[in-house]
Amino acid sequence: MTEKKYSIVVAGGGSTFTPGIVLMLLDNLDRFPIRKLKFYDNLASRQEPIAKACEIILRERAPEIEFAYTTDPEEGFTDVDFVFAHIRVGLYAMREKDEKIPLKYGVVGQETCGPGGIAYGMRSIGGVLEILDYMEKYSPDAWMLNYSNPAAIVAEATRRLRPNSKILNICDMPIDLMEKMAKMVGLKDRKEMQISYYGLNHFGWWTEIYDSEGNDLMPQLRKEVGENGFAGALSDTNQHVDPSWIETFKKARDIQQLDPETIPNTYLKYYFFPDYVVSHSNPEHTRANEVIEGREKFVFGECRSIVSKGTAVDTKLELDAHASYIVDLACALAENTHERFLLIVPNEGTIENFDRTAMVEVPCIVSKKGYERIVQGNIPQFQKGLMEQQVSVEKLVVDAWIEGSYQKLWQALILSKTVPSASVAKQILDDLLEANKEFWPELK
Ligand code: NAD
Ligand code: G6P
Ligand code: MN
Repeated sequence: MTEKKYSIVVAGGGSTFTPGIVLMLLDNLDRFPIRKLKFYDNLASRQEPIAKACEIILRERAPEIEFAYTTDPEEGFTDVDFVFAHIRVGLYAMREKDEKIPLKYGVVGQETCGPGGIAYGMRSIGGVLEILDYMEKYSPDAWMLNYSNPAAIVAEATRRLRPNSKILNICDMPIDLMEKMAKMVGLKDRKEMQISYYGLNHFGWWTEIYDSEGNDLMPQLRKEVGENGFAGALSDTNQHVDPSWIETFKKARDIQQLDPETIPNTYLKYYFFPDYVVSHSNPEHTRANEVIEGREKFVFGECRSIVSKGTAVDTKLELDAHASYIVDLACALAENTHERFLLIVPNEGTIENFDRTAMVEVPCIVSKKGYERIVQGNIPQFQKGLMEQQVSVEKLVVDAWIEGSYQKLWQALILSKTVPSASVAKQILDDLLEANKEFWPELK
């Protein structure tokens, strides 16, 4: 390990995930030393309670780290080595609309999948490009680790519009599922598993899982997931614990029946069982409401309490244990560890019989120079067909954003497997368009 200490800016400082990331960083200072930590957000009132609480946490636990928070891009992005980006353009108010508008028409209402994810994509692209440009202007050598959603659409947009930028798009869902699978087979650490996986973000499959001695774990895991989904081994992290998440982990059992050779990502439920999802949704109370009443209330409540007491010694805020993959990734880039990660990257032949320009989620080896993809070969017709349809949705959204095209956005909705007809697609689109006037580029 070198002596270098790093400077980080968290973009989207007001995120509910920021305190968990800070606690996780503090827990990892021995392998990832920090000299400076900054928060940047474009909404001061959202960021302030989180930042003031984190300031106290840092003062108590690591006073040597210089801390600042700002809404000024120059201050935020100057002298940083890494940008950890988790912004939500439109906040939960717009997430709620993304979920409720499609449900009005009997269609899946979800943060990243279907029409809701498309609407969110049309908002996110501009926000992520903006912070990427700030990074390149003020700290041109920095890396951005982006987990702002919808990651698939954001990744396609940055591939197209900022092809040379140092941005890596990542997702925590496979990490969480691998923690559960490690537990199922009695391993202490998911890192003891070597995997093969292919797909798009929130749309993929494991094809091989071995332990560190080379034993094939797939037979046991396929059996367990086929019986209980991922619900048989709930992990002890503080994320993904609400009843609606447990339901999602159970439902993986039914997804697995569709191709028993593989193990599916839980997000496939929205594409294979949209009728089930809709009939189990409450159009008046969606996941956004659960998050507002749960995570947001808890995190902001704890932060306000830290500030009013002037201490965090007895805080109930927990470190976001499974978010340690973000530190792993930063370490790999900074310290040349050659560790493996699932990243969302341009295909370029990694999946041999699939569009070379698609942004796919595949295992990569990460080092100082960036990433190298690990070839996944040919994929079966079933997955190929599904992925071609879904990647077309994602590409058409980016086309629509770039060209300001209503037609392309309508086509994106029509192609989504969650949407039953072109007429329903149009009705949903027109409602989403009205709700997103402030955020989407003007469409012609
Ligand atoms: P949140 O609304 O609590 O936080 C988002 C923050 O981003 C807010 O403080 C908001 O003011 C800020 N913001 C919005 N637009 C901005 C801009 N243009 N510039 C700077 N800041 C901006 O949301 P959250 O629930 O904590 O989630 C944050 C993000 O992380 C979301 O995009 C969510 O989908 C994503 N996420 C991704 C993964 C993954 O697997 N990739 C996992 C968890 C969360
Ligand atoms: C998983 C996904 C993220 C998504 C999150 C939603 O972690 O990988 O991409 O943002 O779930 O969780 P929430 O609790 O906000 O519904
Ligand atoms: Mn994700």
